[in-house]
Amino acid sequence: MRTDTAPTISRHDYQPYPYRLPQVELVFDLDDVQSRVTSKLSFERVGAEGSPLVLNGEDLALESVVLNGRKLDAGDYQLNEETLTVFPTEAAITLEVVSLCKPAQNSTLMGLYVSGNNLFTQCEAEGFRRITWFPDRPDVMSRYRVTLRGDKARYPLLLSNGNLLESQDLPDGRHQAIWEDPHPKPSYLFALVAGDFSCREQAIQTASGRDALLQVYSDRGSEDKTEWALDSLARAVKWDETRFGLELDLDRFMVVAARDFNMGAMENKGLNVFNSSYVLADPDTATDASYHAIEGVIGHEYFHNWTGNRVTCRDWFQLSLKEGLTVFRDQEFSADMMAHGLTQGEAASARAVKRIDDVTALRTAQFPEDAGPMAHPIRPESYQEIGNFYTATVYEKGAEVIRMQHTLLGESGFRAGMDEYFRRHDGSAVTCDDFVNAMESVYIKQNPGKDLKVFRQWYSQAGTPRVKVELDYNAAAKSCRITLSQHCEPVGIEKLREPQSEKPPLLIPFALGLLDEHGNGISLKHEGKQLDTVVLELDTRRQTWEFGNIPSQPIPSLLRNFSAPVIVDYAYSTAQLALLAQHDSDPFARWEAGQELATRQLLKLVAAIQAKAPLDVDPEFIESWRAVLQDQQLTPAYRSRALTLPGEKILLEKTLPMDPAAVAGARRHLRETLGRELAPLWLEALHSADSGTSAPYSPNGLQAGLRSLKNLALAYLAAGNHPQATDLASRQYYEARNMTDRMGGLAALVNQQDASAGAQALQHFYEQWQHNPLVIDRWFTVQATAPSTRVSTVRTLMQHPAFTLRNPNRARSLIFQFCMNNLQGAHTSEGYEFWADQVIALNDMNPEIAARLARAFDNWSRYIPANREAIRQSYERIQQHPTLSRNVAEIVTKALKI
Ligand code: TRP
Ligand code: ZN
Repeated sequence: MRTDTAPTISRHDYQPYPYRLPQVELVFDLDDVQSRVTSKLSFERVGAEGSPLVLNGEDLALESVVLNGRKLDAGDYQLNEETLTVFPTEAAITLEVVSLCKPAQNSTLMGLYVSGNNLFTQCEAEGFRRITWFPDRPDVMSRYRVTLRGDKARYPLLLSNGNLLESQDLPDGRHQAIWEDPHPKPSYLFALVAGDFSCREQAIQTASGRDALLQVYSDRGSEDKTEWALDSLARAVKWDETRFGLELDLDRFMVVAARDFNMGAMENKGLNVFNSSYVLADPDTATDASYHAIEGVIGHEYFHNWTGNRVTCRDWFQLSLKEGLTVFRDQEFSADMMAHGLTQGEAASARAVKRIDDVTALRTAQFPEDAGPMAHPIRPESYQEIGNFYTATVYEKGAEVIRMQHTLLGESGFRAGMDEYFRRHDGSAVTCDDFVNAMESVYIKQNPGKDLKVFRQWYSQAGTPRVKVELDYNAAAKSCRITLSQHCEPVGIEKLREPQSEKPPLLIPFALGLLDEHGNGISLKHEGKQLDTVVLELDTRRQTWEFGNIPSQPIPSLLRNFSAPVIVDYAYSTAQLALLAQHDSDPFARWEAGQELATRQLLKLVAAIQAKAPLDVDPEFIESWRAVLQDQQLTPAYRSRALTLPGEKILLEKTLPMDPAAVAGARRHLRETLGRELAPLWLEALHSADSGTSAPYSPNGLQAGLRSLKNLALAYLAAGNHPQATDLASRQYYEARNMTDRMGGLAALVNQQDASAGAQALQHFYEQWQHNPLVIDRWFTVQATAPSTRVSTVRTLMQHPAFTLRNPNRARSLIFQFCMNNLQGAHTSEGYEFWADQVIALNDMNPEIAARLARAFDNWSRYIPANREAIRQSYERIQQHPTLSRNVAEIVTKALKI
C-alpha cells in the first residue's frame, strides 16, 4: 500500500521504450505459499546508447540478477518499491532475473493468486509486474516460452498461452509443461492456470479449413454447466469469420472459469480467464439474463483475439481502442444471435430490444459518470491508477463512438475500414488515431471533400452533449426546416478551470424521421435519395436542413436507434409523444417516446412529493401504458421493455438537486398505481406468458421475452398489492422449472407486503442452493435490493456464514448491490457510514474492488444538502485512512475536489 500521493501520468508524456524484447523465457516453480519465477529476457537496444533498462516490479522478492552472464551485486543495479534498473553498455542484452512471489497471500487478485485450490494470473493492466520484473507496458511485445512446474496431484493441469510443446513428470511428485505462444504479445496478455479442472471441448474447422480445439475448463462437478459457454464460443468464432472475415489464429483456444475474479473476464491470448459467473449456466441455476451475459462476454473476449491482441494498444490511454471496439463487436454479435432465425419484423424487434438494453446500461452508468468528478474522454488525458479507467465511458461510450463510425460509413464501409485497420496494423501496438485514420481512409473515398477531423473530438472530450432540435413547418411551401444545435457543459475537473470556453463541436450523426398526424412515416428526400430515416451529419454548433414535399405539420422522430450518445431537447407535447409511442416505425424511438412520457409523469410525482402535495397520476399516462400492454403486435420482450419505468439512476440524473428518497418514492407510487389500475391486464399477461413458456427451456429471445413480461406483470401485481399477488408469486416461486421464473417469484415475494411469505421463501431458497455460490449470490442480491432492506439487515447478512468480503462476486452481490441499487436503504446517514466502512475494509484487501465501491456516491455534490453533507463526511473519513491504496485515493481525491 502506498500512502504518498501518487503521480499523475499524462497522455502527452508517452516515450517509446528504448529496448525491444523479442524473446522471453519464463520458468515457474509453482507453489501457493511461494512461487519462484526465473525469467530470461533478450533485449535489443533501439534507443539512445547508455539508456538505462528499467523494469517494473511490485510485491516481489528479488533473488538474483544476471546481466550478459555476469551476476550483479546490489551495487550494480537500482532497486526500489516499483522498479529495478540495470545499466547495460552493450546493445544486445540477456538479463536473467530470479524472483519470488506469494500467491496465497495475494488478496488483490492481480498477478499470481489462489482461487479455490487453483492458481490463476490476472495481468491487465499492470499485474504482470507482480509476477516478475518486466517492462510491463503494452508496446513491448515478445514471444513467450513458458515452463510450468508444480505438484502433479495438486496441479494436474498446467496451462499457459499458445501451444503445449511438451509435458513430463519430474521427481518428488512434480511435473512440468512447456508452452510456447507463437504470437508476439504484451505482458498484459500473459496467463497461466494451474490446478484441477474438468474440461468440455469441441473440435472445429475454421473458414480456411484449419482444425482447432475449443475448450472450457471449470471446477470439477460443474462440467454440466459449460455447454452454453462452449456453444457460445463456437458461435463467436463463426460470427467473426462471417461478419468481419477474422479467423481464429490458434490451434487451441481455452477458457477457464475462476470463482474469484475482479471483473468479467480476461482475453489472455489463447487462454481466456473468466469470472465463473460468465461461464456456468444451466436452466436450474442461471437466469435468461445470465445466459445472454455469458454469450456476450464469451463473444467479447473472443473478439479481443483480433481487436486487442493481434492489434493492441500503444499505451493505456488508448484503452478504448480495444475496449470500445470490442464492446461494439459483442453488441452486434448478441444482436445477430437474438435476431437469428426470426422473420424480418421479429428480427427488427429483437435487435431493438438489445439496443434498448445497451442504451439503458449506458444511461444508467455512463451518463452519470460523464457528469461527475471522474468524467473523462473515452481516451483519458491523465490518470493516477489505470485500474480506475476501466469505466463505462471507455467501454460503453467507446462502443457508441465506434457505432457512430459504423453509422457514418455503413456496414460495408465499416468493414472496409476494419480490413484497412488490420492491413496497416496487424501485429503492432497502436493508438485510437490509427483506428480513425483507417476508417477515415474509407470515409474520404465515400464522401469526397469531407473527413473525420471534427469527429475525432469524441476522443478528447468528456461530457454528454445536448442536441437541441427546432422544427419549422411552412404550410404554404409544404416544407419543413430542421435545425440542430449542440452544446456540451463543462464536466468534472473542467468546471474548476477558468475561464470556461465553449467546447469545440462534434460530428454527431443524427438519425431522424418525420411522421404525419396519423403516425404514418413521411418519405424524406436527402442527398438525392428518398428515405424513411435520414442521418444528418451535424458538425458545427448549429445547422439547418430543409425537406420538401411535407403535406402537413409533421411530428419528428428523433435520434432513431440512438444514433449518437447525446441528450435530445425537443419540446414535444404529450399528445405527440403518445402518438410516437404508438406508431413510430423505429422501434427504439417508439420505446423512447414511452419512456419520455413516463419520465414526465415521474418528475411530476417527484415535485409533488417534495411539495408534500397529493400524488396524482395522469389518466392519459395510464392509458398509454394500457395501450402497450394490449398491443399484441409487439413481441413480449419488447413489451416488457416498453412497460418498464425508467430506472432510478436515470431519473436522478434529470433532477437537480438530486433527491433519492423522492425519486424512489415517485417510482414506487407509479408502479403501485399502474399495478392496481391495470391489474386485470397484468393478470392476463402473466397467464398467457406462462402458458407460452411450457416448452423445454431455451434462453432464446422469444422464451426469454415471455418470461420477462411474466415477471414484470408479477412485479406490478405485487407493487399494486393485488390480493392474489402473494399466492401467484408463491406458486411461481415454488413451482418454477428454471431460475428466471424462480427469481421472479422470489423477488415478488420479498417485495410484497406479507413479510413472512418472503422470509419463508428466502429460507427455502438458501437451503436448496447453499452449495452453489453463483446462486447464493442471487440470494444476497434480492435481499440487498429489497426496498425494505436497511443497513441493519445488511450488517446481519454480512455475519452469515456464506458471506465473505474476499470473494468479489459475493461482495458485489451484497455490498455493491445495496449501496448502488437500493436507493431507499443506502441514501441515509447510516447507509453512507456503512458504505465508508466497507470501502475501508476492502481497501486493504483488494484496491481495484474498493475503488469501484468508492465511486458509489461520487456525484454527491449534486444531492440535496442533507445527503450531500453526510456523503462528504464519509469521503473525508475514507481519505484519512492511513494505508489508502492508490486506486481509492484517486477516486476520493477527485470526488472531494468537486
Ligand atoms: N480486458 C478485460 C475485458 O475487457 C477486462 C479487464 C481489465 C480485467 N482489467 C482487468 C479483468 C482486471 C479482470 C481483472 O474483457
Ligand atoms: Zn474487453
